[in-house]
Amino acid sequence: MHSTPKQNEFFHRPALLEECLTALALQPGAIVVDGTVGGGGHAAAILERTAPDGRLIGLDLDGEAIRESQQRLESFGDRVTLIQESFRNLDAVLAHLEIPEVDAVLLDLGVSSHQLDSPTRGFRFSSETAADTPLDMRMDQRSGTTAADLLRRASPEQLENWFSDYADLPGARKLARLIVAARRRAPLRTAADLRAVIADARIGRGRRHDPATLVFQALRVAVNDEANALSEGLEAAIESLRVGGQLVVLSYHSGEDRVVKHRMRDAARGCTCPPRTPVCICGGKVRLRVITRRPIPAGDAELRENPRARSARLRVAERVAEAS
Ligand SMILES: C[S@@+](CC[C@H](N)C(=O)[O-])C[C@H]1O[C@@H](n2cnc3c(N)ncnc32)[C@H](O)[C@@H]1O
Repeated sequence: MHSTPKQNEFFHRPALLEECLTALALQPGAIVVDGTVGGGGHAAAILERTAPDGRLIGLDLDGEAIRESQQRLESFGDRVTLIQESFRNLDAVLAHLEIPEVDAVLLDLGVSSHQLDSPTRGFRFSSETAADTPLDMRMDQRSGTTAADLLRRASPEQLENWFSDYADLPGARKLARLIVAARRRAPLRTAADLRAVIADARIGRGRRHDPATLVFQALRVAVNDEANALSEGLEAAIESLRVGGQLVVLSYHSGEDRVVKHRMRDAARGCTCPPRTPVCICGGKVRLRVITRRPIPAGDAELRENPRARSARLRVAERVAEAS
């Protein structure tokens, strides 16, 4: 018997689980990459659906996630390979494992409930715990640059770009200026230090999102180089899929969803030269067929059970034979 979600807090309900399983078009014996294995929730269901001999390659940047999923997926034995690695390197991982192509790739982006709920990891910024929350936010704790490091070193222009590009934050320039002024007085070390500067900036009032949500999201994306990792990971996934294989991506904010949408659309279009270019100079080939014209959100029943699925958006594409 495999553990149920309630047995371990790591195993939060995997978002859009049934929708993902359907989109992955799983068959017995399939080879599947879960590029964000987290607590192994999606992975366990994938392994059940690909029994008796399907194989799962699970990656995660977070060593704690790898340890947790090792425990959770132990009963599947050598059908599972778990590696602490970024999905941006999934092609290199597969080459190392001598797997030439795979049947499906799942990317369930963003942070896990475990990361969000761990006070020491710095992903949580609610005002009650902020004074004790270090500005860390690294998914891979082996790497050196924390949110506090970035806030200490980044130029005002860099800070402004992160807040605008990664979170569409209104008042990005003003906040960047205030951060630079605040750090001259004392380094920003905790979530409370940063929340105080955000409050001073008086930005985003009357908006749907608490501006702190957007600021912390932008910093998390910067700390983990998430935008570049996602572009590279999608490219590596497309190249690793067999013809007819499925690419299934769950994103949690508009910046992520935009990257997924554009990347899938470009790979489905092939040539991306500007209109009226007489001869193709980009060399782009058609490699995908987009299955989801519009992203799929969580259904009402799931939202009642799991409010964290509120922002989840699912996009699916199928690998096709290369064509000009
Ligand atoms: C939403 S959780 C995944 C939850 C998982 N699907 C489950 O069912 O438990 C996202 C996970 O992706 C990991 N992650 C984020 N960016 C990554 C990257 N570039 N490469 C590998 N893992 C990444 C995070 O560390 C986190 O554990």
